[in-house]
Amino acid sequence: MEKKKFYITTPIYYPSGTWHIGTCYTTVVCDAIADYMKMNGYDTFFLTGTDEHGQKIERKAKEIGISPKAFVDKQVSTLKDLWEKLGIRYDKFIRTTDDYHEKAVQKIFEKLYNQGDIYLSEYEGWYCTPCESFWTKTQLVDGKCPDCGRDVELTKESCYFFKLSKYREKILELFKTHPEFLEPKSRQNEMINNFLKDGLQDLAVTRTSFSWGIQVPFDPKHVIYVWIDALTNYITALGYMQEDDSLFKKYWPADIHMIGKEIVRFHSIIWPAILMALGIELPKKVYGHGWLLLDGGKISKSSGNIVDPVILSDRYGVDSVRYYLLREVPFGADGVYTNEAFLTRINVDLCNTLGNLLSRTTAMIEQNFNGILPKLNKSIISDYDLDLEKEVDSLKSKVDEAIDKLQIPEALTYIFKLCESANKYIDLTEPWKLAKDETLKEKLGNVLYHLTEVLRVVGIMLLPFIPNTAKRILADISVDVPSEFNDLIKFGYLNGGEKITKNQKALYERIKIQQELVEMDKISKAIKEKANAKKEEKKVDKMEINENVSEIVIDDFAKIQLKIGKILTAEKHPNSKKLLHFTVDTGDKVRSICSGVAKFYTPEEMVGKEVIVVTNLKTAVLGGIESEGMILFAEDEEGVYTVEPSKVLKPGSIVS
Ligand code: ME8
Ligand code: MG
Repeated sequence: MEKKKFYITTPIYYPSGTWHIGTCYTTVVCDAIADYMKMNGYDTFFLTGTDEHGQKIERKAKEIGISPKAFVDKQVSTLKDLWEKLGIRYDKFIRTTDDYHEKAVQKIFEKLYNQGDIYLSEYEGWYCTPCESFWTKTQLVDGKCPDCGRDVELTKESCYFFKLSKYREKILELFKTHPEFLEPKSRQNEMINNFLKDGLQDLAVTRTSFSWGIQVPFDPKHVIYVWIDALTNYITALGYMQEDDSLFKKYWPADIHMIGKEIVRFHSIIWPAILMALGIELPKKVYGHGWLLLDGGKISKSSGNIVDPVILSDRYGVDSVRYYLLREVPFGADGVYTNEAFLTRINVDLCNTLGNLLSRTTAMIEQNFNGILPKLNKSIISDYDLDLEKEVDSLKSKVDEAIDKLQIPEALTYIFKLCESANKYIDLTEPWKLAKDETLKEKLGNVLYHLTEVLRVVGIMLLPFIPNTAKRILADISVDVPSEFNDLIKFGYLNGGEKITKNQKALYERIKIQQELVEMDKISKAIKEKANAKKEEKKVDKMEINENVSEIVIDDFAKIQLKIGKILTAEKHPNSKKLLHFTVDTGDKVRSICSGVAKFYTPEEMVGKEVIVVTNLKTAVLGGIESEGMILFAEDEEGVYTVEPSKVLKPGSIVS
């Protein structure tokens, strides 16, 4: 029988910043869903990637003095490392700078132009660079971008437009006839009230004020507005408008576009309109999930904090991070990240409920049956046994239903409920008492068989969500990792005789939460300090000598106090590669001074030298260290040189 297909996408990420636990949310969720569907027998295609064009990237690259392509290459490689670390198993990673994508976007643009859905006109409006969004005056909130609250720029330029207005009725109709198209339901009302109700304006789809984008093929001074470029990734990745479009034929339409709530407008209004214009089927569902907030605000990309997913994964394990994201955040709504909730989740669910079940079961099998799983004796089944069997057998359909509704936390709750029931079953059947009486050995065997079956089923069911933990459980009870659920999620699969190992290492170590919270604060502080030092270094490294020197009068010069100073100590600056840090005796006192000469002098070379020091310069802090004055250096194309008196002088001697 041919498998049913399932196509799921994340948004393509801006490769513009650092990544935090919130940015990972969409992708971890998609990864779990995709893998669940794969295991459930679907021919699944999971797409993710990066959204690399636009003014924001162009500016960022310019700021640090490299080409946009070099900038995004570096960012993309960091992002891919992050996905690997988090165990993300995508089928394809699309970059909007990929050649096939750029060509297909040009073809799409040309087709829409030729059929009259795109036309040339003039644009005047407000542009939010960070969001890459155009706004009309009425859409602005207090004159700022309604999405992010930042400043917008008034722009006027010749511009191609997409006839979005033409599709307003059809999109309203779509919402009405396919209420499942956009979820959660509340987002539909938002779209209707904020954008569709009062008419829909045509959309500016090109820019001429920057060049980092895909060119309009027949009018190359225009680059294609980044959202048209970005949204079409979902079809170009499958080969749309390319020679080999077999993936497109197989997987389109998307079953789920998973996105954050701030980009619902693009996915539920603009994207369907583009597809309608192209005459392509619409995606089956757009799901706008909520944000993961930190202290009330959206987690910002720059917050130096332990919410860095790499730091959290290294310290607590990847699965702890995945589990937290999948279980704790109410799906569809916003969630607030706190260290305490994160640690509590690990302790309560992973360590207590799951870890204890594993260790108690394997320990008892080792003690009483030499680590060999006893056979089930069906003639002495108890009511407790039957209840547990029933719960095992009903698990799969409950989780299926939750996943179908995209209620990921609910899906995990069902799996962990089974573990709780198994722990309760231990309390009820009291296997430690059974173990004391040799005549009850078969009864004990049955209890341990039931518990191992729960572990097997739970282990398999957890594979899409917390794969490392799941594999570890299965390894301890000698169950192979299956690639599909098939009929494995049913009680009674094991024969007995399997080797059961009591692992020396706990599945999850119990965390002392109060103590650990203090540690986490320390780590956050250290990260923040490091981030600040880096910023400071950048500032320092950027300090440039002003070349446009104007004439001054003698009184101006008299304001500058110059003295001979003797360098007592010299060291590399801890926060800047360019700076050396000196202590200098200038007669009046010993000063701390930083100079940008690390490239030209070693600290050792500088110690003992006499130099000229500006001693009445306002104290500055360079890279976290005070600089009380400035040492004068001479400079040519090859380097920088100290300026020394022709005779050894007393420190503090006046230079004039
Ligand atoms: O929007 N909590 O890319 P992006 C939850 N390039 N999700 C968050 C989050 C948070 N604190 N911060 C970010 C873009 N995200 C466009 C998409 S698609 C054709 C183009 C989510 O890098 C965000 O909601 O800004 C989005 O789903 C994803 O991270 C990428 O955001
Ligand atoms: Mg965004």
